[in-house]
Amino acid sequence: MEQLEIKPMAQLTAKQLIKAAQDYGTPLYVYDAEKISEQYEKLTSAFSQSNVVFFYACKALTNISVLKHIHSLGANVDCSSINEAKLALHAGFLPQQVLYTSNGIGFDEIEEAVSLKVNINIDSLSNLEKFGKKYGHTYPVGIRLRPNILAGGNLKISTGHDKSKFGIPADQLDQILAIVKENHMQITDLHIHTGSDIKDADVFVKGIEVLFDIIPHFKELKSVDLGGGFKVPYKPGDEQLDIELLAQKVKEAFDNHPQAKNLQIWFEPGKFLVSESGYFVTQVNVIKETAATTFVSVNSGFNHLIRPMFYDSYHRIENISNPEGKEKNYSVVGNICETDTFAWDRRLNEVREGDFLVFHNAGAYGFEMSSNFNSRLKPAEVMFKENKFHLVRRRDNWDDLLRNQVMIP
Ligand code: LLP
Repeated sequence: MEQLEIKPMAQLTAKQLIKAAQDYGTPLYVYDAEKISEQYEKLTSAFSQSNVVFFYACKALTNISVLKHIHSLGANVDCSSINEAKLALHAGFLPQQVLYTSNGIGFDEIEEAVSLKVNINIDSLSNLEKFGKKYGHTYPVGIRLRPNILAGGNLKISTGHDKSKFGIPADQLDQILAIVKENHMQITDLHIHTGSDIKDADVFVKGIEVLFDIIPHFKELKSVDLGGGFKVPYKPGDEQLDIELLAQKVKEAFDNHPQAKNLQIWFEPGKFLVSESGYFVTQVNVIKETAATTFVSVNSGFNHLIRPMFYDSYHRIENISNPEGKEKNYSVVGNICETDTFAWDRRLNEVREGDFLVFHNAGAYGFEMSSNFNSRLKPAEVMFKENKFHLVRRRDNWDDLLRNQVMIP
């Protein structure tokens, strides 16, 4: 497994991030377009020998400017709701570049996806049957399978195991085939996604092996979709998925399988493309010395970055205002009115009230999972592109909090 030494400063410098914080205020999400391009380039060069298409899993970050940037790189897009599909079209993706991998949705949403002419993966027997009855052979469609493989960084983000709600269990193949045959369906894609934060390339090989047994049953297949979940490093020494090794193993598997040779291979990376491009900049409100720890309270909370509280995720934190300060242990917390810990006992350069603290790897599932809990406002988002910062979403304001509330006359 590849070990990555994280440089003390990634692509944007402390100086640049402080400037952004001063110009746009904090808390602030900052995305580096160049880093997204670099990650996409890593994927395309690793897989240059295979017939691969990448669909950016935009649930990680749907800001329109990010979508437009990723579109300009030549990627396609994977969506998990009808609104994500509409946002992707709005950002300029063509319907054939949009994939809607649905889960647990009503059939009306699938009908809407058909009206948008996007690619669709269906994840239940019930919707497969409805789809077959309504569209028969007229609309090509994919099937999301549950391969019964346990993978991913933690159970909350594991989706392919035998107790997961996602996909049609691979052991229900007979039922799938009966529906497909009866309705003369045109099945062009088989999809699996086993989880997020996968660091072992062999997980994908296992998934491919499950698919290889199923592929011969579908004569009109054009692609197999192996999902996303490529692990990126969050802390120094963290393991990450070795993309080159993955590309090599996937190529070998497909080359050795006569019936899969001509199929296009699809992947749906989310974190891999945007996680490291994102910085979440906060400012220190209060320092509180206690017997147990020294608390650093920043002007944010799990309403803005939920990953540490929700998944126990590690985000590297850096005091960009005092990089030479003497190192001490701190507990970095938010201002939400319940336990709201970003990091316990973390070594940081001396922190003073007013300092800017940056959370790294904040691009994926950061802003996207934010909320207005405690009636706090959502942060602004800016993108660093072509050597300039651009505001790509303004900060919430008071009107936003009231916008949808209806007064009883
Ligand atoms: N494709 C499908 C069908 C998915 O469900 C997901 C993620 C992806 C692709 C992209 O996975 P990625 O490459 O980003 O790992 N909020 C969690 C991650 C949840 C992922 C849900 N599905 C987190 O912050 O760790």
